Amino acid sequence: MSDVLELVDVSVVRDGRALVDDVSWSVKEGERWVILGPNGAGKTTLLNLASSYLYPSRGTVAILGEHLGGVGTDVFELRPRIGMAGVAMADKLPKRQTVLQTVLTAAYGMTATWHEDYEAVDEERARAFLDRLGMTEYLDRRFGTLSEGERKRTLIARAMMTDPELLLLDEPAAGLDLGGREDLVRRLGRLARDPYAPSMIMVTHHVEEIAPGFTHVLMIRQGRILAAGPMETELSSRNLSLCFGLPLVVERTGDRYTAHGLPLS
Ligand SMILES: Nc1ncnc2c1ncn2[C@@H]1O[C@H](COP(=O)(O)OP(=O)(O)OP(=O)(O)O)[C@@H](O)[C@H]1O
Ligand SMILES: [Mg+2]
Repeated sequence: MSDVLELVDVSVVRDGRALVDDVSWSVKEGERWVILGPNGAGKTTLLNLASSYLYPSRGTVAILGEHLGGVGTDVFELRPRIGMAGVAMADKLPKRQTVLQTVLTAAYGMTATWHEDYEAVDEERARAFLDRLGMTEYLDRRFGTLSEGERKRTLIARAMMTDPELLLLDEPAAGLDLGGREDLVRRLGRLARDPYAPSMIMVTHHVEEIAPGFTHVLMIRQGRILAAGPMETELSSRNLSLCFGLPLVVERTGDRYTAHGLPLS
């Protein structure tokens, strides 16, 4: 199986501090990873490396078989192959654009020139992705007026527009109410189980947000990997407790997880 992502001895150093500290990690085709870790652990920094927008201070990064900074690697060819949905992206998008335009612009980023022929095809694709995420009623709403959950779903549809081979999601369920979270988990689960869907890496703060179909987990603390491997073995109470620095119990019910702290004795 080929590597979707391969980090070898990667560090990201800022102001003399390693935000990501000597990390080696590989994601193979067909795997769907969840990244867990406390605030400031380096999760978003890892996603930024995987998105090709951040270069490591040390070590090597290969994305979809292309070496970052390598001879013959053109990041402008690589970037459309990667879909990214995160908070940082939401801030960059014009608030006055409609939901449909917001998703469509992802396709325009790819095509420098305007082709009338592409318009209908792209619009059809944008509508289809928005429909899959339950956003059909919001096509003409301005992006800036959306609720947190509606914005999250729009961003995921947008990330799908370039038909990416790798989809990166940074806290897609943050700020959603219980119903919104469950709805998103269901949709992500459907995506994760789809053999034609892209490889996925999702950062989350809560094991409750792990959708069925995600296969692997990476736990990071202070820039260092604490555990990385199959969900069944690595998402353990022991690893989670070490990761967050307090006694935690993780339980599996069916294909979902919950975690809680131990009562004070
Ligand atoms: N450009 C930068 N210069 C200096 N420090 C930075 C820079 N970018 C991020 N950091 C720091 O690096 C650490 C890791 O940041 P990162 O955003 O990756 O954390 P995170 O795991 O995503 O946290 P959260 O759960 O809060 O989103 C944080 O302490 C952050 O303050
Ligand atoms: Mg983050």
